[in-house]
Amino acid sequence: MSAPQRYNALKGVQDILPPDIYAWQKVESVAKKIFWSYGFQEIKPPIIESTALFTRSIGEMTDIVEKEMYTFPDRAGRSITLRPEGTAPVVRAYVEHHLHMLPPPQKFFYSGPMFRYERPQKGRFRQFYQIGAEAFGVSAAELDAEIISLLKALLETLGLRELKFEVNSIGCEKCRPSYRNALREFFSARLDALCPDCKRRYELNPLRILDCKVDRCIEMRTGAPTVTDFLCDECRAHFEGVRSLLQLLNIPHVITPGLVRGLDYYTRTTFEVTTEHLGSQKAVAAGGRYDRLVEEFGGPSTPAIGFALGMERLTTLLKDAGGAAVPSPQVFVAGIGTKAVREGLVMAERFRAMGLWVEAGYEGSLRSQLRRADKLASHYVFIIGDDELLSGKIQWKNLRNGSQGEVEITRVEEFVSSCLLP
Ligand code: HAM
Repeated sequence: MSAPQRYNALKGVQDILPPDIYAWQKVESVAKKIFWSYGFQEIKPPIIESTALFTRSIGEMTDIVEKEMYTFPDRAGRSITLRPEGTAPVVRAYVEHHLHMLPPPQKFFYSGPMFRYERPQKGRFRQFYQIGAEAFGVSAAELDAEIISLLKALLETLGLRELKFEVNSIGCEKCRPSYRNALREFFSARLDALCPDCKRRYELNPLRILDCKVDRCIEMRTGAPTVTDFLCDECRAHFEGVRSLLQLLNIPHVITPGLVRGLDYYTRTTFEVTTEHLGSQKAVAAGGRYDRLVEEFGGPSTPAIGFALGMERLTTLLKDAGGAAVPSPQVFVAGIGTKAVREGLVMAERFRAMGLWVEAGYEGSLRSQLRRADKLASHYVFIIGDDELLSGKIQWKNLRNGSQGEVEITRVEEFVSSCLLP
């Protein structure tokens, strides 16, 4: 056998272990309930897709497509990409399975890992998890407001406060050309100072300059024309509609005119939920409308809107806010002596069949078993010894309030049920 070799997780990816996993489970279960109450159904798209799906939708000139995709040829030479986001796969599935034939709106949610080759830092990973939602078939501002309201309900149910809702409208293909021209005009005098990527973006997609992370480009865009000044009448009316509905639904928000998002598929409404508690990675969730994407993927013209939230960022906030309780066993069955340990094993199985979390003390002294029960923060401990077996009674102790007593073995299930079952 060759010498042992230790392996570590790759840079920018991580194992989610207990007790952190409980924050993840809490987010997932709250999200499921909220999605249910808004009529969103779960969809599970694959993690790999053809590369063209992402280059076409996210856009050739975006950071994601230019620098961050995990792209590789499969064994048959096809170009495959590990999904960097979930919207394009859901839209592909929507078109592929003719879900547009179903009455609108069709509303879906998904969760799972996404992959972006970014520089890892706090809140930024190469494999990260999103929970996302996408709704198809309604262009009314009411759906935009409802989606943002859903996001607010989810975050509030998790007990997260101090989050800022930022909204913007980036117009449609009708108003975009005049905005692009205004941007080109603005940046023409600053072209030399832009990074090489933005110099290319200047001609083909100047909106992307607004999203560049390079310091000197950030400096150069001070005073750039804002997209909301270039909205066509329909887009302006839609944006005003969204804003007044957000007020109606009591969702405080700010307009962030620079919120153009890092993906090309957006039209009209864009939004982000940001926090000051995560250092430089401020966005906890983000989304927007993408009214052209279904058509671009060969489906009928179908308006759509969605968002995705970043699980790592959200669970960090939840843990910091003390909102993720770590569960503990309801019962610990300690046994002294071979016969009692066996009896305890059988009793533990009976408790589990009642739907309880039960731990058994398999071996060791009573003291060491009780230490383990305590460490696990068990609620009740049952102690079985030879004497107890003879007398037909066992001792119990409530480790939370210190009360203790005896109960007949034949009535132990009744006792447990009255103490621990709702
Ligand atoms: P996004 O803004 O690229 O949008 O990502 C959404 C969220 O995912 C971010 O706000 C952030 O919380 C999290 N996130 C993104 N990149 C990373 C990373 N490297 N590490 C940790 N968390 C990250 C989208 O992905 C769109 N598909 C959202 C959408 C859905 N738009 C419409 N429908």
